[in-house]
Order: sequence, then structure tokens, then C-alpha cells
Amino acid sequence: MDIRENQEIQASIAWVRAENARMSGEGKHRFVYVQTFGCQQNEADSEKLIGLSEEMGYTPTSDPKEADLILINTCAVREHAELRALSAIGNCKRLRESNPDLIVGVCGCMTARGERVEKLKKGYPYVSFTLEPPTLHRMPVQLAAVMRERRRRVALSEDNGEIAEGLPIFRTRRHRAYVSIMYGCNNFCTYCIVPYTRGRERSRESDAVADEVRDLVAHGCRDITLLGQNVNSYKSDTDFAGLLARLCEIEGDFILRFMTSHPKDVSDRLIEVIGKNVGKIEPHFHLPLQSGSDRILSEMNRHYTAGHYLGIVDKLRAAVPDISLTSDIIVGFPGETDEDFENTLKILRQVRFDMVYSFIYSPRTGTPAAEKEKIDAVPEEIKGERMRRLLALADEIAFAANERLVGKQLRVLCDAVSRTKGDMYSGRTDAGKLVHFAATPEHVGKFVYVKIDRADPYALHGSITE
Ligand code: SAH
Ligand code: SF4
Ligand code: F3S
Repeated sequence: MDIRENQEIQASIAWVRAENARMSGEGKHRFVYVQTFGCQQNEADSEKLIGLSEEMGYTPTSDPKEADLILINTCAVREHAELRALSAIGNCKRLRESNPDLIVGVCGCMTARGERVEKLKKGYPYVSFTLEPPTLHRMPVQLAAVMRERRRRVALSEDNGEIAEGLPIFRTRRHRAYVSIMYGCNNFCTYCIVPYTRGRERSRESDAVADEVRDLVAHGCRDITLLGQNVNSYKSDTDFAGLLARLCEIEGDFILRFMTSHPKDVSDRLIEVIGKNVGKIEPHFHLPLQSGSDRILSEMNRHYTAGHYLGIVDKLRAAVPDISLTSDIIVGFPGETDEDFENTLKILRQVRFDMVYSFIYSPRTGTPAAEKEKIDAVPEEIKGERMRRLLALADEIAFAANERLVGKQLRVLCDAVSRTKGDMYSGRTDAGKLVHFAATPEHVGKFVYVKIDRADPYALHGSITE
């Protein structure tokens, strides 16, 4: 479906735009404020929400106090994420009191959870509508209905979503961009809420993806991240390896990144394509392991063993010797024993990840693991202790990996001045590592070569050589 050809959506956009033009005519300029929680997929969705809002006559603002439309794009992956989103929604109460015309929409993964929607309905009367991720492109329809009927639309949707092309995207940065290539997840890892919030897997046509990438490169974009909950299970007229190979043929000076991959879908062909296109495809692979224990992996419904995972790592390192490897680990999954946890530490030592994102298991109502947590939970203090040990080991390994880069000259895409470092600039190496270095505004958005002088566990420091 192309939203430019969808009458209902176009009519809603036109209606809101006319309404906004009328109010702007009365001297009330219209602003939208979007607050984003969660993963890159949500960041990419927010760029579309802002794009749609702009089409309806709203100007993006970073000040919620001047907003006429506030969209909170929520995450539900862990309890903590939901609590943060709820607190941000709660802040809208005051804003609504000082601006009775303010419309608050709640989007994102939390709005696909029945119990949370009930809570929003009863406890947050100033929330005007909800919008689940699979139907994001219908935001104008929800908004127009709320404005026209002056009635709340806070409810679960029956719609499973489809691929929507033609959405306007408000890109926050010129030289880096996200391109969603597939949506949803079919894997149902037993701890995870995402398959319930983002619906079934669906992939965009490779033509649409290639057109978007070509257009970005033509407009000066240098760093493109292909996004999907299971990016490597992409499947339309070609598979993920085929898509990457095709995108590598696009002329221009740019680097392709992708996330997040699932180990069960890492094919030999994918590794081969990555190996053949170093310089065009990032020498980095984010491959969530979750646990190093085969028993826990099976309980998690991950469809691979630690041995299989190590086999992929060997093949990746054979294809791209300096490849940077990063991962996600869950600590304290229900029933995790000391031995299971030791197996996780063991695989960390074997792989020597460049970076590990670790999470304490958070029960999500409606998932199988949440039932198991009721009878076989790891005590909180043990979860905390394991987390501390994991972080200490991951830090030590990450530091050693970064120290090996000292003295090397690396290509870095320069970003704007890093907030904390005064006149220092920062950027990312091809492998995605953060680097701080002295530069000038002319370097922003360009590839530079930086000699690494010093390493921290999570950043490098160096100076431009050319
Ligand atoms: N589709 C991606 C990302 C999923 S969410 C993937 O498959 O990797 C990102 C990470 O959050 C997951 O990799 C997992 O490590 C973590 N996560 C998901 N559900 C969780 C839960 N209930 N508790 C703790 N961490 C969780
Ligand atoms: Fe969640 Fe597993 Fe799907 Fe990732 S692959 S989104 S962890 S269910
Ligand atoms: Fe959160 Fe949804 Fe992303 S639950 S991590 S925003 S897919």
C-alpha cells in the first residue's frame, strides 16, 4: 500500500492541514513534539510520525510547552521502559491544563498491550488516541477523528498492519539515516513482547529499499542503517544477502549497517556477501546471544546452541578478520542456574565481544517466560550479582578490544560537536566505534582518517591524519 494513493489517509491529512491553516491564520502557529523511547525501529518510526505531522501543518519543536500535538512513542520491552513512558505521558497532564487544545497521542509498543491501554483509558484522561506500531501510517486518521469528533480513541486495534510506502520522513541528520526494510517478528522468544506489539514479519520490496537508499546517497547521506527486528530474515523478491549485494552496487561513498540479526538466520551466503564488500558493508555484526547455556537457549526458544553461535563467529572472523562483534545478553532468565550463567561468561571470554548490551530479565505479561518466572524466578540479589559480574567481564574485554586499535589509522564519519567535549568532535569508525578527535565544522558529515592515540572501554581518542 502506498499512502499517497490511500484516500482515507490523504483525506485526513488534508482535513487536519486545513484546520491547522485556519488556526495559523488566527495567529496560532502549530507545533508538534515527539518523544521517543526504545529501539532504532522506534526512532525510525518517530521520523515518520514527524514527517506526517509536517504534512498536516505542524512544525517540529523540542519544547513540549509550545506543542499543540504531543506524540509519545513508547517501548514495552522491559518494565523500566514502560514506566519511563508512563511518566512522560503523565507529564502531559500539566501541559494540557495550560493548553486545553493540546492533543496527546500515545504510539509505540506499549499501546499494543491490553492492560496498558486500559490504564491509559482510565488513569490518563488527557491521552486522546493510541496508535500501535503496525498501523503507524494511520496516525492522520486517528488525529483527524479526534479533532473532528472531539472523542478519545484509546483502544486496541484489530489491524495487523501492512507495508506502507510513501511515508514522508523527517530525517534528523543528513549524513546518517535509518531505512526500515522489514517489520515485525515471528520468533516468539519466550521472554519477549515484540512479536505481540509489532505483529508478523513483513518485508518491503527490494526495489523500494534500493530507491530509498539511492535517494539518500544522492542527497549526501554517508551512513545507512537497514532496520528490522530480524533484519536478516528479510524476505521479499530476494533474501537479506541478495538485498545487501544489490545495495552494494549503488554508486557513491557510503557505508551500510544493519540491525538486529538473529543467529538462526545467518546464512553462509550472507557471510560471503559481507566478506566481499568490506568498505561498503560495516565490518561489524550485532548478533544477540542472550545466553551461553544451551538449556536456557532452548527455554528461550532461540533455535540455536552455543556451539552453533561460535561456529558463526568463526566464519565471520574468517571472512572479515577484524570484524567487530557486539551482542545482547539477558541475565536472570527464570530457572537460570549458576552453571548456566558460568556458560554465558565462558562464551564471552571465547568470543571477546567488542561490546555487550546486558539486561536483567524483566517479566512481560502474556509471554511464556513470565509464567515460569512465577514459579522459578532467580532471586533479585542473585540477578544483581550476576549482572555486576557480567558487566565487569564485558568491560574488561571491550577495553582490551579497543586498546588493540591504538596506533591504527581508521576511517571515521564525523558527527557534530559532541556535547560533553567542548571543541572536540566525535564520529563512528566503519565498525561503528565511537571516536573523539579535534576537527572543524567542515569535517561534519564527511569521512576522515583518524589515528587512534588512546582507548577507553567504550570510546577511542585520536587525531585526524587526512
Ligand atoms: N529483535 C531484536 C531486538 C529485541 S529487543 C533481537 O532479536 O535481538 C532487544 C534486546 O532486549 C533483546 O536482544 C534482549 O536481549 C532484550 N530483551 C528482550 N526482552 C527482554 C525481557 N523481557 N527482559 C530483559 N531483556 C529483554
Ligand atoms: Fe524478541 Fe526474539 Fe523477536 Fe528479537 S527475535 S524481537 S528477542 S521475539
Ligand atoms: Fe521497545 Fe518495541 Fe523496540 S518494545 S525495543 S520499541 S520493538
